[in-house]
Amino acid sequence: MSTRSDGVVVSQDLAARILEIVEKEKVSIKSALSRFKLNQEIRSSVYAYSMETLKRLNAIDHVLKLSCPKFEKIDPYIKNVMRIAVYEMKYKGVHPALATDSAVRLAKKFKMEKLVNAVLRKAENVEIKSEDKIKNLSLEYFHPEWFIKYALDLLGDEALELMRANNEVLPTYVRVNELKSSVESVRRYLEEKKVQLRETFLDEVFEVLSYEKHPAALEWHSEGKYVIQDLVSCYVSVVLDPKPGETILDLAAAPGIKTSHIAALMQNEGKILALDISKERVEKMKTKLKILGVKNVEVKVADGCNFKFEAEKALVDAPCSSTGSISDYPNVKWSFDKRKFESTLKIQKKLLDNALKNACEVIYSTCSIMVEENEMQVKGKKIVKIDSPFSRGVEKFRGFVFEDWDKVLRSYPHRHRTSGFFIAKMKR
Ligand SMILES: C[S@@+](CC[C@H](N)C(=O)[O-])C[C@H]1O[C@@H](n2cnc3c(N)ncnc32)[C@H](O)[C@@H]1O
Repeated sequence: MSTRSDGVVVSQDLAARILEIVEKEKVSIKSALSRFKLNQEIRSSVYAYSMETLKRLNAIDHVLKLSCPKFEKIDPYIKNVMRIAVYEMKYKGVHPALATDSAVRLAKKFKMEKLVNAVLRKAENVEIKSEDKIKNLSLEYFHPEWFIKYALDLLGDEALELMRANNEVLPTYVRVNELKSSVESVRRYLEEKKVQLRETFLDEVFEVLSYEKHPAALEWHSEGKYVIQDLVSCYVSVVLDPKPGETILDLAAAPGIKTSHIAALMQNEGKILALDISKERVEKMKTKLKILGVKNVEVKVADGCNFKFEAEKALVDAPCSSTGSISDYPNVKWSFDKRKFESTLKIQKKLLDNALKNACEVIYSTCSIMVEENEMQVKGKKIVKIDSPFSRGVEKFRGFVFEDWDKVLRSYPHRHRTSGFFIAKMKR
């Protein structure tokens, strides 16, 4: 592989391969990246190239389609090489000739250098704008048009702030695993490692302000003394309020982040039955729970929609559109599928109904901003008001009215610097 002196072509080559995997297999960049053994420096550079390109995919493809009518038919690797070059020249401030040169080098292997050169020269002069208002917002804020219309109906002008926050990196939060360490020890350890922390409203959770080495790459993280978990995600288990000795049913549990928090709040006493329908994710959960020192959990591959198990409390951390996690997973914007969404809604309903058959108290949560997956799922149930250090639910949306909007919780990236979440508590 030929490289420019800054090694950029290596990063672009790998980033193009990562983006190809993301597109074909509908997985996240992190998951695709985990298949490659890379040193830290190259890994960060490849991650940045892939993330920054994927975030802006619609605007980049807009440029490329105007520069090459048969763009969609080109080999996926070459398509991604060109996308990265457009990202460089339009958004990264790289001189167009230099961005084109790197892409042409990579295309030579496939004897595609002439086409790539011609397309990128045209791309250089394409303006990224549209006469249509929604399309223009879509190109400016890098979100699909359906999302823009949805967010405007949900939040009015605030939708633009949401989309801006979705394009930014949200803070990292560290939850101390009190089954293996203590809040004070973890705080001291991280500060010694030059991780600057800020307290949050939860004693066991810190916001990371800065670091020399990311807390996920430090030894105590591998030893399970703390986990990286969003603040609002931590709040889900706090709202569940599991007590030592109780019996808890976790109906969609893998990879077990919330299960491990529940176990810590129970001080490993009592019982958690943690189910998930995915065998692969359950295997990951078993490994994770072992590292985290969780001892009071039974893990099962099972369908939470019809599993019977009498418990005091149940958690349904439902599969969802992940539209609250776009900042971490920009692929969510481009892989949204109406049919899959409809079938997920049915699963959410079944999981919630089954949870209410098995337990007297149920917490329902999603990392989605969509009313169909949240307020519409819990409407008509016996909702119990929870405290909200974040925002409240949606009262009205496109003709739908939700009377219990002030009993449930929502968080938003632009308001709270966390993922977008929904949490509701219900009684049988
Ligand atoms: C949002 S994730 C759960 C995250 C988990 N609670 C945590 O904190 O680590 C949703 C999970 O639901 C699982 N799932 C989807 N359909 C299911 C079903 N019918 N029964 C049980 N689990 C299901 C998925 O495999 C996925 O692992």
